[in-house]
Amino acid sequence: MTVIEPSRDDLRARIEALGPWFHNIELGGVWTAPDHFLGDYPAVKWRRFESAIPKDLTGRSVLDIGCNGGFYSLEMKRRGADRVVGIDFDEDYLAQARFAADVEGLDIEFRRLSVYDVGALGERFDVVLFMGVLYHLRHPLLALDLIHEHVAGDLMVFQSMQRGAGQVDVVAENYPFTDTAHFDGSGYPKLHFIEHRYSDDPTNWWVPNRACAEAMLRAAGFDIVGHPEEEVYVCRRRETPLGNAVYPASISRHLNDRPE
Ligand SMILES: C[S@@+](CC[C@H](N)C(=O)[O-])C[C@H]1O[C@@H](n2cnc3c(N)ncnc32)[C@H](O)[C@@H]1O
Repeated sequence: MTVIEPSRDDLRARIEALGPWFHNIELGGVWTAPDHFLGDYPAVKWRRFESAIPKDLTGRSVLDIGCNGGFYSLEMKRRGADRVVGIDFDEDYLAQARFAADVEGLDIEFRRLSVYDVGALGERFDVVLFMGVLYHLRHPLLALDLIHEHVAGDLMVFQSMQRGAGQVDVVAENYPFTDTAHFDGSGYPKLHFIEHRYSDDPTNWWVPNRACAEAMLRAAGFDIVGHPEEEVYVCRRRETPLGNAVYPASISRHLNDRPE
């Protein structure tokens, strides 16, 4: 592993050359994104849910999906995780993450990989972080299904921007075709589609309300075991006997096997 001990001016120049940064991380006394529009981000968020994650990750493996500049990967390694893998689709962010890990002297593997390709990793992880990515995806439920199918081993820490009502309506198991009123409840699961722009970011596609974020997690095979912060859920992977929608063939086979 490379150990970098440059001067503060050198660090500042290298940080600037790798920018712009989304993660504000202090590297050798220099902050990477001091003017972040959300403040000291993501530290302000992390402080609100860090106590919900095991303090000691010794012996555990962690996958950080959409790792960006590496803030959460660094924190997981600092908690003693044996192996931390950070993946992101964006080479520029991965370069930032590799640089941050080098400066901090932390052994973390960063790979360019889309969440849709997590099957290529060929292993399950004790802890999966899936933070701040869902609403950037055109196919968000597919991503959750793939995480469940291929890489989630036990815990998943999930975060999504949420918009719409914060209340959660009680939804019945089933409704007759003629019942429609429940769809209009503000606490019914709703995924808002952004055809154009939201917050000047062309990569924002689908923003759930709270009920929808929770329902999507359950539907993909994750039990919610903690909700330490408005947008953050700690989940535990559950076996899904029928498989999930990534493999519709197994569901149709099951339906065809129903007794007459
Ligand atoms: C809002 S940032 C969140 C970063 C970090 N996880 C956090 O919570 O602070 C979204 C990140 O997801 C990455 N991303 C977007 N689409 C992705 C995809 N299909 N596969 C992997 N990463 C993706 C982006 O490059 C970006 O780094």
